[in-house]
Amino acid sequence: MTRLGIVLSGRGSNFEAIAEQIGQVKLGAEIAVVVSNRADAPGLDAARRLGLSAVALPSRGVERPEYDRSLIAVLRAHNVEWVILAGYMRILTADFIRAFPERILNIHPSLLPAFPGLDAQHQAFAYGVKVTGCTVHFVDEHLDHGPIVMQATVPVEDGDTVDALSARILREEHRIYSEALRLLLAGGWRIEGRKVVRAKTLTAGG
Ligand code: GRF
Repeated sequence: MTRLGIVLSGRGSNFEAIAEQIGQVKLGAEIAVVVSNRADAPGLDAARRLGLSAVALPSRGVERPEYDRSLIAVLRAHNVEWVILAGYMRILTADFIRAFPERILNIHPSLLPAFPGLDAQHQAFAYGVKVTGCTVHFVDEHLDHGPIVMQATVPVEDGDTVDALSARILREEHRIYSEALRLLLAGGWRIEGRKVVRAKTLTAGG
């Protein structure tokens, strides 16, 4: 069973959605550890409730290179194969990314490359787009930037509010994060430049 390491900073609803899919045997993986850089993250409590290894690794006042070395150590100690960022509010160092090549995923609440960074739902709403959504992507050294695995669109409706829009996006996040993972864990893909290419597509398309 593929061992996932969940890394988060807050609420943890994407983590819980993945845990639920695993619990329902719809995703063939196991959660080896949940790590938070904030000791008070509700996501850590959720992990404990589920009986999972939950590690608080506070980042406050710790330089990024040193912090990432500790994070790598925790994940390695739990034999983590895939690193799943689920609301992790820090950028990873190049050393961290090299430690788990092509094995770090993130979810972002916009259709990248539109609206990277904080408050993506608010950014989209304020810009006046008619369609936004969410993106599962591989992580590189740049913010919300690596090759895209899966996206889902969400319409912005007349009379929408940021909260209502965020809630609709979140539902899609919960759906596609597990779906993207399922697809990747099944294998038969590779990364070509910015593209995640599936072998099946290649065979079909020549
Ligand atoms: C989600 O909107 C995710 O896309 C973003 O941070 C938020 C985390 O929410 N990266 P949760 O902690 O998974 O509930």
